[in-house]
Amino acid sequence: MARVTEQYSCQNCGSSYRKWQGKCDACGEWNSIIEDTGREALPKGLSTGKGRHITFASLDQAEETHARHHCGLQELDRVLGGGFVPGSSVLIGGDPGIGKSTILLQAVGQMAKNGYRCTYISGEEATGQISMRAKRLGLAGSPVRLAAANSIRDIVTSIEKEDKPDLLVIDSIQTMYADNLDSAPGSVSQVRACSQELIRLAKKVQCALLLVGHVTKDGQIAGPRVLEHMVDTVLYFEGDRGHQFRILRAVKNRFGATDEIGVFEMTDKGLQEVANPSSLFLSNKDREISGASVFAGVEGTRPLLVEIQGLVAPSQQATPRRAVVGWDNSRLAMILAVLDARCGLSLAGNEVYLNVAGGLRVQEPAADLAVAAALVSSISDIPVPENSIIFGEIGLSGEVRAVGQTDARLKEAAKLGFTTAIIPMGSKVKDADLKIIEVEHLSEIVSLFTSEKQASGAQRV
Ligand code: TYD
Ligand code: MG
Repeated sequence: MARVTEQYSCQNCGSSYRKWQGKCDACGEWNSIIEDTGREALPKGLSTGKGRHITFASLDQAEETHARHHCGLQELDRVLGGGFVPGSSVLIGGDPGIGKSTILLQAVGQMAKNGYRCTYISGEEATGQISMRAKRLGLAGSPVRLAAANSIRDIVTSIEKEDKPDLLVIDSIQTMYADNLDSAPGSVSQVRACSQELIRLAKKVQCALLLVGHVTKDGQIAGPRVLEHMVDTVLYFEGDRGHQFRILRAVKNRFGATDEIGVFEMTDKGLQEVANPSSLFLSNKDREISGASVFAGVEGTRPLLVEIQGLVAPSQQATPRRAVVGWDNSRLAMILAVLDARCGLSLAGNEVYLNVAGGLRVQEPAADLAVAAALVSSISDIPVPENSIIFGEIGLSGEVRAVGQTDARLKEAAKLGFTTAIIPMGSKVKDADLKIIEVEHLSEIVSLFTSEKQASGAQRV
């Protein structure tokens, strides 16, 4: 018989140790290490021919055998890659109160109205509370099967025996417990065991499973990281509670593209889909102000115009403040350095503030040029040319680089009434209804404002 060694492993990241310890060195989690015996030191003797034969399939079978379930919320469907796949599991995370329960109740209510069998199990709210909310959302007549339960054993038994749904929602995985484990609901081992059991159930009865996951202080889904590996799709529901809109973002999707976003607006009648989000993120396109530029971005497959606001103000402090909302801090530092070193525009004695209007978080490097334009416009107090959009990546030597999806960006801008586009030299433009200004180096953006200042300055005096 193979020697069985005593071993301890971390429930969070799976690292193994020879001795027990309180904190996992690999992931920094406390109290996640438990004894894990029964593991053979060497998997000897497995090739004895006693295993069962598995059957192999070819790739052309990999077509979706089941049609996807469309939930009726187009934004959610798109983020999922075209609806729920039967037998798959989706994890949706987000801050408390952001609207996870609301969006799922709306999706379930809509699907049940369309004839799908939908089950909503809440471990947080009583059925009375959920139906009150459903009434407010105008979904009271929808034939959703509601339950308030926490025991995975009870849930699995009822779903397997009586009630095979097309869609099963578990709100939330942190409130569920498996009674064969001692630990409390929400602990790493409970979350892992419960999700494993539910995912197995979903595959068995071929229903789409939707798990709600709480997030930790730093915005990660609480519980074991392996949870994100176990499910097919991970969605994050984000948004600033000070703003009314919410963004659903796919960070992992086995059945569709990631980086796809869905935009919703929180109203008194629940979440409403926003079909044209660009209009939401543009605060005042018609009023010309200095220090604001419109960035033509792309989120996933969808173009999105956002306003970028910059403010450069003289500072009395030894280390002037740099504050950024909605963009990367180090990217701003890089642009300030390039402006200084390559264009001779030093902002060392100034405070710099940057804000992406509406609370959106922009991640594309293509926003560089729009940020630089907003900052230079703020310094020179000259507005960015009227009705213009801008995009392009800035390299360390100050060169402006072309970015992808130029046509999609220009088309969206033309649709929303913009007339001028400031874009990188060498961008492949097929046909555009806008006046195109191509720039090759960041200094051209700087001179765009200074030369205009001279011209308009003469008029102003
Ligand atoms: P909820 O879905 O309970 O959040 P989560 O499940 O992510 O914790 O969202 C609750 C918030 O949404 C709450 O602050 C009130 C707001 N809300 C509305 O503004 N309008 C509505 O119609 C509903 C149902 C909720
Ligand atoms: Mg909730």
